[in-house]
Amino acid sequence: MATKTLSEHLEDEGRRTPALTVDLATLLRQMGECGRRLTLVVRRAALSGSLGLQAGGEINATGDTQKKLDVLADEAVLERIGSTGLVGAVVSEELKEPRALPGREARYVLCTDPLDGSSNTDIDAPMGTIFGIHRKAAAGPIDPARDLIRKGSEQVAAGYILYGPSTMMVYTAGAGAHGFTLDEERGAFVLTHETMKCPERGTIYSANLGNLNRWSPGVRRYVDHVTAPDPATRRPYSLRYIGALVGDVHRSLINGGIYFYPADAAHPDGKLRLMYECAPMAMIVEQAGGRASTGTGRILDIEARTIHQRTPLAIGSAAEVALYESFLK
Ligand code: AHG
Ligand code: MN
Ligand code: MN
Repeated sequence: MATKTLSEHLEDEGRRTPALTVDLATLLRQMGECGRRLTLVVRRAALSGSLGLQAGGEINATGDTQKKLDVLADEAVLERIGSTGLVGAVVSEELKEPRALPGREARYVLCTDPLDGSSNTDIDAPMGTIFGIHRKAAAGPIDPARDLIRKGSEQVAAGYILYGPSTMMVYTAGAGAHGFTLDEERGAFVLTHETMKCPERGTIYSANLGNLNRWSPGVRRYVDHVTAPDPATRRPYSLRYIGALVGDVHRSLINGGIYFYPADAAHPDGKLRLMYECAPMAMIVEQAGGRASTGTGRILDIEARTIHQRTPLAIGSAAEVALYESFLK
């Protein structure tokens, strides 16, 4: 039976992996605490009157109407991460501008989607929290151009928390992707998925097919291809769509397959946000041997221009993402 806690694992890994500094381990532990807190918030949402839209109808930075749970999740991340004094600024889906945090030793920037898949709040379906961590180039006040607008490949750690039938946290600090399951009786995350390996291939594709008629001819040809029967290549693929990136990517990591959200007429740059959705998930999936692409290039190589910018995304099994890319050439 699995027994090693997230804290114990971070201590052991810290000895083996110089990149996993004490500060980074503190931030990862605090994200775990945040996941523990949000597990309760999400589980009790119907009982505590936290379903539905936030009163006042705030529209967040990328045009979504905020749910009560979006706001609670954002507050939980800011509080836990703020308490470390290690983060100088937080970039969040729920904050129009980066939030500066006090702390003389604040050498990190945290990018977060505090609650991913918030259209699932009211239907008791999976949701998540996503985060990516950058190290500031220098001490002192935040310089937005230098410290915030970064390439995903510069992340020093990334992770997600999945609120499903159990809560899981998966993180990477550049030495593999490791998954932990929340043991609610112990009040701790326990290592259940050490060194995760994304299968090279898979037979599940995951996308909002409601957008099919808006997709480019290449993406539509790809869908024709994966749905065309061919037993030798295990086609047709099955369609699965949770509607929460964290859930759909987690399935792809474990079972193999691909998730994609391409550009289309209504979403000329795709829908998903680079800094706090795509880049962290890309780092984790690459660390597990998978691939994350815009369809024509590597997600982690994109130079961000703005904190809320969007990008098309195809992510999952390396061979499946390569196949997708071959249709977009
Ligand atoms: P968020 O709830 O953080 O705004 O993210 C929702 C994202 C992502 O999780 C999901 O895969 C995608 O939007 C779903 O979009 P559609 O509803 O357009 O399919
Ligand atoms: Mn999201
Ligand atoms: Mn969100």
